[in-house]
Amino acid sequence: MERIAREVGTPCFVYSTATLQEHCSRIRSAFAPLLPSICFSVKSCSNLSVLRVLVEAGVGMDVVSGHELRRAMEAGCDPSRCVYAGVGKTDLEIEFALRSGIGLFNVESEQEFDAIAACAERLNIRCHGALRVNPDVDPKTHRYTSTGNRESKFGVDLERAADFIRKVHGNPWCSLRGIHLHIGSPIYSCEPYTQSILKALALIDALCADGIVLDTLDLGGGFGADYETGQSPSAADYASTIVPLLEERVRNGLRVILEPGRSIAANAGVLLVSVVYTKESGDRTFAICDAGMNALLRPSHYDAFHFIWPIDVSAAFVPPSRRAKLEMSGLKLHDIVGPLCETGDFLALERAIPPVNRHDRLAVFTAGAYGMTMASRYNSSALPAEVLVEGDTFRVVRLRECYDDLVAHERVGSERCAAAITEPQG
Ligand code: LLP
Repeated sequence: MERIAREVGTPCFVYSTATLQEHCSRIRSAFAPLLPSICFSVKSCSNLSVLRVLVEAGVGMDVVSGHELRRAMEAGCDPSRCVYAGVGKTDLEIEFALRSGIGLFNVESEQEFDAIAACAERLNIRCHGALRVNPDVDPKTHRYTSTGNRESKFGVDLERAADFIRKVHGNPWCSLRGIHLHIGSPIYSCEPYTQSILKALALIDALCADGIVLDTLDLGGGFGADYETGQSPSAADYASTIVPLLEERVRNGLRVILEPGRSIAANAGVLLVSVVYTKESGDRTFAICDAGMNALLRPSHYDAFHFIWPIDVSAAFVPPSRRAKLEMSGLKLHDIVGPLCETGDFLALERAIPPVNRHDRLAVFTAGAYGMTMASRYNSSALPAEVLVEGDTFRVVRLRECYDDLVAHERVGSERCAAAITEPQG
């Protein structure tokens, strides 16, 4: 870490190839009895080099935009191994996905189904869909990331789903062959999965009684990552609940899809930042870093906990493990904040860490998922670099942005800006 921080600079995200691979294989072996198609959720970490590692590890991709699909393809993923969700797919994106040969549309509404079917007919390309069903199950997670309750904008509610499927059954252009669930993220217990799977199976059975066979069940993502406490279930824990519910069905021809994002990427990445200044104010001690919510929005946006520790500490401050309660003597409470002009710009508040000084570097753990993909350029901060570690070596897989990157789209001539208004945005 020291070497990376020194040679690449901070802020930067650092990903571990071995951990990415390890997490894929844990999920694959835990769910082996279901022979699932594992589609990595690109929104959690979309760096092309990370995606390439995952493609090589044999997973497909879950995408939610035309550009995510392009990333998946550029990383070498066969589009037939991609599933495409998202509540606002535009006609252009649908057309792009169809032309690319997308494996499955996760359809989020009646209107969207009509748009997909119409586009497919126009292009004379047949496709498959799964209906995203909103099972009205509480995933017991942050309200911003709860997606399976009745009020959410995602999917079609259960009452409407059966009629919807009956109505579009037999459509020659988009054949609706499954149910898609994604009820929230992260989900720290297995029970919401059980509830939503049972509801989905009941729907599948009711339709089967009408002669409509659905052969695909996409369970979405949501498996937790261990941010702090060791409380998050492991892949094996989730599987021990889910596999028994579906094993028999799989033997009878059901195809299961999983869309893990966080559980693969989060603990495969850290964010390195540097302390620019420290200061005391009132009874607080601030460690003001060179990045905050612009690089990692989660603490500020969701009140999320990320373990943070200096990367070069004396032996006295080597934490025994992240799970152990950190009651070392000599720790000091710090507000670890970023440089932006917002009080909400923090990585952690009142956090006990070893005393830090100017130019010390901190590692923010579990930052591989929803870190860089949610980063912003607020206050004209340039996006961080990204680094991929493989064995004893590392390489920069995304350059740190510079001032020219920030203003490139503003410097273009007025003709080009005018042309951009009439050109398709893609
Ligand atoms: N599938 C669908 C349709 C999704 O919407 C998501 C995440 C996933 C799969 C992957 O979920 P995962 O396995 O990563 O939990 N920004 C928030 C998380 C938002 C998740 C959005 N959808 C965060 O930083 O916690």
